[in-house]
Amino acid sequence: MASVAEFKKSFLAEIDKIESREELEKLRVKYLGREKGLVTAVLRSLGGMPIEKRKEIGPQAQGLKQEIEKLLSNRKEILETKETMASVDLTAPGRKPARGHLHPLTLVEDEIRRIFMAMNFSVVEGPEVESDYYNFDALNILPDHPARDAWDTIWLRQNQIKNQKSKIKNGGRLLLRTHTSPVQIRYMEEHKPPFQIIVPGRVFRYEATDASHEVNFYQFEGLMVGKNVTFANFKFVIEEFFKRFFSAKGGSASGGKRPQIEFRYRPSYFPFTEPSVEVDIKLGGKWLEVMGAGMVNPRVFEYAHYNPRDFQGFAFGMGVDRLAMIKYKIPDIRMFYSGDLRFIKQF
Ligand code: FA5
Repeated sequence: MASVAEFKKSFLAEIDKIESREELEKLRVKYLGREKGLVTAVLRSLGGMPIEKRKEIGPQAQGLKQEIEKLLSNRKEILETKETMASVDLTAPGRKPARGHLHPLTLVEDEIRRIFMAMNFSVVEGPEVESDYYNFDALNILPDHPARDAWDTIWLRQNQIKNQKSKIKNGGRLLLRTHTSPVQIRYMEEHKPPFQIIVPGRVFRYEATDASHEVNFYQFEGLMVGKNVTFANFKFVIEEFFKRFFSAKGGSASGGKRPQIEFRYRPSYFPFTEPSVEVDIKLGGKWLEVMGAGMVNPRVFEYAHYNPRDFQGFAFGMGVDRLAMIKYKIPDIRMFYSGDLRFIKQF
């Protein structure tokens, strides 16, 4: 009978030539087959051997059996991979995966952030659940002030307030913020001028919806404070912003065609600015009201613990949805929130 070493040698020579799974199976049967396998026969004959010989041959034959099993299984894997590759048509056109994309309101907000950051503004955020104090009082909108009616408020129930961990200034009630203006106070409490910030964010109003009003919408606030910040600075910043925002390339990138925009500043009223204005822009022959603004009311500086004699500044607030509607010519604000893919996929 041939020796274990010889079987090993012949097996190694044979396995390298195997090109199909059928041949591989035949090879397995030849060496390890239960009936007539060559290695199986050696293992079976061990019982009839003298003890010394058995001790020598036994481990060799067992070792070879294991080695053969391992090599067979490796070879099988290689053959399977080859078969799969052969069945793949590498010239077939690829399948396009469905890709997600950003919501138009996100695109517009990103653009706003980019433009203001290029003008050296910082972007700041604040909480959507706000206290009565920051949303109204500290902005000089006192409890009995008729201006509170202008912001129809969604109030939170008392028990919801108890569960709320954040501290509530002046023991006030909690509400869903009606504008981004409370972040003016929050920021001024923590920072000293000069600074210039914008505050994008989601706001809520308890009002009937129509083509230009939603219960939930987005605003962004601007605030610039320093020793000599004037209304002229405001006009420059905001006109520059609109020209970039509505430029042909769609924004901040230089090289976009600067659009023809006219601006109109109408006297208005906000308790937190004095004087206050509404800003209208004329785009494509139509006047559109786009924002409220003004010089920060000294009372607001007092709430923020600034000395109003030391600083002055401007603030503005506008609707992100309204800007998106103008930019993309969308007739109804409710389309942004409908979840209708036929609409969303156009952006
Ligand atoms: C304010 O909210 C002031 N906080 C803005 C401000 C900030 C003035 C700083 C002065 C200084 P107003 O309520 O007008 O103002 O809202 C501002 C903008 O939000 C509007 O011009 C409009 O674009 C948008 N807006 C208001 N209500 C809605 C609504 N229901 N749906 C969609 N957009 C709205």
